[in-house]
Amino acid sequence: MTIRNTKHAFGTVTKTFHWVMALLVISVFSIGWYMDFLPLGMEKLQWISRHKSLGITVLALVILRVIWRLSEPSPHELGKLQIERLAAKAGHLGLYLLMFAMPLTGWTMSSAANFPVSVFGLFTLPNLVSPNQELFETLRTVHWLLSWAVAGLVGVHFLAALKHHFWDRDATLRRMLPGKLEEN
Ligand code: HEM
Repeated sequence: MTIRNTKHAFGTVTKTFHWVMALLVISVFSIGWYMDFLPLGMEKLQWISRHKSLGITVLALVILRVIWRLSEPSPHELGKLQIERLAAKAGHLGLYLLMFAMPLTGWTMSSAANFPVSVFGLFTLPNLVSPNQELFETLRTVHWLLSWAVAGLVGVHFLAALKHHFWDRDATLRRMLPGKLEEN
């Protein structure tokens, strides 16, 4: 397995970014839904704090990931139909945009509510906007709607990976999994 991408497969750096971020996004999403159901109290505040810290980690990693993505050629596309390849590109772009939009709306929402974001208790981020109740309410709705977009797009993305693997029987999923691709 190589560190960099090849014409046929993703390298270790791309795969590590993909799976670490997939795990993070799914965790932040699950925590977000769980904490919403908790009654106001210490436990809820602790989960909100974890949700924010992991969300900011997503933001930091997606910046590095996009820099890597733009500096590294991707393996050739595998979809048989052009429409399928276009849909894959649009879906990936949507996932990248959401990985920025989710933490940025969260951070701005916290700033508008005047609850500064502490990252794992190590440091506190500056507020992005002045306290503003109306802006807070709007961003809360936007953040919530975007979380549905994440759930929908990740679900389609997951099903598309399974379709490639079991229906088309191509290397789409295998070349994103750890280990060396045999036909390389
Ligand atoms: C749930 C299980 C998941 C599976 C099975 C999966 C599978 C894959 C596969 C096979 C590819 C490569 C597609 C290709 O060759 O063109 C890929 C790419 C990608 N995945 Fe996932 N994925 C999962 C979760 C996620 C999550 C949660 C995110 C982030 C929200 C994500 C974001 C991306 C992005 C942005 C790409 C495009 C990478 C590039 O720039 O080429 N994936 N995924």
